[in-house]
Amino acid sequence: MLRPQEINTMQLAFLYKKEFELCRVRPDETVVLVTDLSTRREYVEAAFAAAAEIGAGIYEMKVNRKFSTTHIGGEWVFDTKGSIAAIEAADLVVAHHIPLGSEWMARGCAAGTRFLMIYDAPDDLARLMSPPGLKEAAIYASDKVHKAKEMRVISKAGTDFRCKLGDMFTSCQYGYAEEPGRVDHWGAGHFSTWPNIGTADGTIVYQPGDCWILPYVRYFEDTCRLDIENGVIVNIEGKTDAKLMRDFMDAHRQHPGDNEPYHVSHLGWGLNPNAVLDQIAVHGPAIERVGGTGRAWPGTFLFSTGPNDQGGGKNKTRAHVDAPMFGCTVILDNEVVVEDGRIVDKGMIVQPSQSLMVAA
Ligand SMILES: [Fe+2]
Repeated sequence: MLRPQEINTMQLAFLYKKEFELCRVRPDETVVLVTDLSTRREYVEAAFAAAAEIGAGIYEMKVNRKFSTTHIGGEWVFDTKGSIAAIEAADLVVAHHIPLGSEWMARGCAAGTRFLMIYDAPDDLARLMSPPGLKEAAIYASDKVHKAKEMRVISKAGTDFRCKLGDMFTSCQYGYAEEPGRVDHWGAGHFSTWPNIGTADGTIVYQPGDCWILPYVRYFEDTCRLDIENGVIVNIEGKTDAKLMRDFMDAHRQHPGDNEPYHVSHLGWGLNPNAVLDQIAVHGPAIERVGGTGRAWPGTFLFSTGPNDQGGGKNKTRAHVDAPMFGCTVILDNEVVVEDGRIVDKGMIVQPSQSLMVAA
């Protein structure tokens, strides 16, 4: 389902130039575009034009694949000789899919290559481009969460969840990659932390209108209750959404006793004030309309399940649910930082940089 694009496609070149400038692309640098069979050609042309304006070198590595953005993992992107050496030699790699967790990205980061992911629609790139203050807010939020000992999440829908923090990594995305080895996503604006192993406990209650980003890109139709013990979801109750979630996780079990798909994964909330809330209602189940926006909605609590390897753990299951919840209150140690879905900690509040074209 595709609704009309709002921006003039020719604006993409200007947007790419602004984004490259945020990424501090210099004339003596080389940008590599990693694309695939489904990448919009206008993105490649816009990136080429932007790099030419800056005076930087740029080329495209187009792979003979078609990515599904509903499943993460780009491990198998490069099985061609010389590809990884090119990634390591680049200054900025622009990946038009999600290579998080891949070996080739890790090797590039270790060599100092910066990585920018782009997988949202042109309107969303325009709307979500990192506003002033977002970087500072994202760093402030992720530092504060990382230093906290405990996170508690409650909601009027019945969520009552807690976990211990501090053992695992915390990372943030503010929309551009300007430092060596940095990985970011154009259109982002959130942070992720992983609970200490085995400490997540309680109940998460999704209510109608909450959102699946991964894997199904849809609104929750009905209440879905997750009971969690020692870091593992032990029970999922509800109707359609509960069945979808159980079936998805069961399908990814490697053996009957494998509960890794049922582990609690990263936690965090959105911070980008330019994100609009009704993308799925307007555009339907289009991942390119909710990939950035859905994680960036200010104050929505992103509860995810599955792997924790990006947080420093050993769980590498491919069963990954990213599902933000509206109307949650988040308490770090004894301090309320998000109340009923609204950020109240002033250090995490960013002013919108443009008028919102759809509902706020
Ligand atoms: Fe995720």
